[in-house]
Amino acid sequence: MVCFRLAPVPGSGLLLLCLVLGAVSSYALELNLTDSENATCLYAKWQMNFTIRYETTDKHNKTVTISDLGPATYSGSSCGDDQNGPKIAVQFGSGFSWTVNFTEEKSFYSIDSISFSYNTNDNTTFPDAKEKGVFTVSDHVAFRVPLNDIFRCNSLLTLGKNDVVQHYWDVHVQAFVQNGTVSTKEFLCDKDKTLTTVLPIVPTTVPSPTTTPSPKEKPEVGSYSVVNSNGTCLLATMGLQLNITHDKVASVININPNTTNFTGSCHPQTALLRLSSSSIKYLDFVFAVKNENRFYLKEVNVSMYLVNGSVFSIANNNLSYWDAPLGSSYMCNKEQTVSVSGAFQINTFDLRVQPFNVMEGKYSTAQECSLDDDTILIPIIVGAGLSGLIIVIVIAYLIGRRKSYAGYQTL
Ligand SMILES: *[C@@H]1O[C@H](CO)[C@@H](O)[C@H](O)[C@H]1NC(C)=O
Ligand SMILES: *[C@@H]1O[C@H](CO)[C@@H](O)[C@H](O)[C@H]1NC(C)=O
Ligand SMILES: *[C@@H]1O[C@H](CO)[C@@H](O)[C@H](O)[C@H]1NC(C)=O
Ligand SMILES: *[C@@H]1O[C@H](CO)[C@@H](O)[C@H](O)[C@H]1NC(C)=O
Ligand SMILES: *[C@@H]1O[C@H](CO)[C@@H](O)[C@H](O)[C@H]1NC(C)=O
Ligand SMILES: *[C@@H]1O[C@H](CO)[C@@H](O)[C@H](O)[C@H]1NC(C)=O
Ligand SMILES: *[C@@H]1O[C@H](CO)[C@@H](O)[C@H](O)[C@H]1NC(C)=O
Ligand SMILES: *[C@@H]1O[C@H](CO)[C@@H](O)[C@H](O)[C@H]1NC(C)=O
Ligand SMILES: *[C@@H]1O[C@H](CO)[C@@H](O)[C@H](O)[C@H]1NC(C)=O
Repeated sequence: MVCFRLAPVPGSGLLLLCLVLGAVSSYALELNLTDSENATCLYAKWQMNFTIRYETTDKHNKTVTISDLGPATYSGSSCGDDQNGPKIAVQFGSGFSWTVNFTEEKSFYSIDSISFSYNTNDNTTFPDAKEKGVFTVSDHVAFRVPLNDIFRCNSLLTLGKNDVVQHYWDVHVQAFVQNGTVSTKEFLCDKDKTLTTVLPIVPTTVPSPTTTPSPKEKPEVGSYSVVNSNGTCLLATMGLQLNITHDKVASVININPNTTNFTGSCHPQTALLRLSSSSIKYLDFVFAVKNENRFYLKEVNVSMYLVNGSVFSIANNNLSYWDAPLGSSYMCNKEQTVSVSGAFQINTFDLRVQPFNVMEGKYSTAQECSLDDDTILIPIIVGAGLSGLIIVIVIAYLIGRRKSYAGYQTL
């Protein structure tokens, strides 16, 4: 264990940084950050490697794997203060740096985003790189972990694609450690869950394992967002209910936002929101731009674990829902159904989405769905009320006539 004193940062309680470097294996990293009282405030232990592809001076693509990290330093790691959340910063080799940051929200904390930088001026690792300089990739990961639980993922997690592929395994991490004691309660990543439970439990949304969800129950509304280098680029707030029909039997599953992870990506013409949980491998919402001035939900791609252990997957990239002008958001408070296929529907509640042109992390003005538009309902209700009144008058008149007619007869 290596300990060193950090120059006291104004406003930061962090004074002492203790590092527990993994044994001889340079793949394994371990970090135990303590606060001014010597109490552990952040703990992490993990293994990682990276595959980087770069273009060479003779126009070939070369890949290099960074696995022998050598001795690492952790300067910049901190448990956070009033302004900044906790983060782990690791430096290794010549010019590699890796950062992960965490955020806290109510009774959860999130492993927020991971960024990785490498410097192609390092001639030992990138001897013939065409472009020399520092390259950085950032990924929004957004694993949500209950406060006081330690996140565990022994399975392989893969991040990124194309130029930089990142592998992580044997991950144990807890931010916002309470009372200086690292929790013994593990929160498993989905891959680990499916390893330990032979038949994945479906659905995760059930409040307690003994009760089954009533299909009539409205799903809880979740807030999802995607962040890229320019900040928040996609916003979605919605309650989601999945309806899977198998052998003419529909099973209805409410998505519990508390146990749902989200991630995604933003591009000029498309945007992706991906939800996942222990029962949902992935649920992708793909948005696209049409006619250069409107957006819509173009594709849903889902893969779920069924109760019997088999996987249900379906995709439809020819949808047309949630259509609104670019620069605005789409809103629908009433229940709406996105019909992905005959066997798979999504019922949405209190929906609001903005997949493009998000400014300052906030929704722009909403275009409401026609279902929400009450103006058309008012004449219908008034009309219905009037015709009801007429019917009552007619019936009353008829009864009245019959009574008086009957009256005459007895006379
Ligand atoms: C924290 O631990 C260091 C040695 O590891 C010790 O010198 C220091 O007094 C301790 N501080 C407190 C507040 O206990
Ligand atoms: C990087 O890690 C992955 C996952 O453990 C492994 O499959 C791969 O062989 C590793 N690469 C190298 C070069 O060690
Ligand atoms: C190298 O990779 C880039 C993408 O990063 C690709 O566009 C290009 O075609 C590749 N070149 C060769 C020679 O494979
Ligand atoms: C976490 O890091 C990402 C990029 O590395 C940055 O965009 C984001 O603002 C950071 N979040 C916090 C809470 O510091
Ligand atoms: C931390 O300590 C306080 C006071 O002793 C206690 O009330 C609280 O439950 C503890 N929290 C955890 C997570 O152990
Ligand atoms: C689920 O889907 C089936 C078949 O399309 C439909 O009959 C049923 O009403 C749906 N249930 C809900 C709650 O949406
Ligand atoms: C989600 O978390 C909130 C706040 O912790 C809680 O009030 C709510 O009941 C939870 N919902 C579900 C479905 O577990
Ligand atoms: C699981 O159930 C589905 C639908 O009932 C069925 O199609 C599938 O074959 C089953 N898988 C296994 C492994 O039993
Ligand atoms: C759905 O997602 C899977 C896994 O990411 C991918 O292989 C498949 O091509 C996607 N399907 C469509 C229609 O996009």
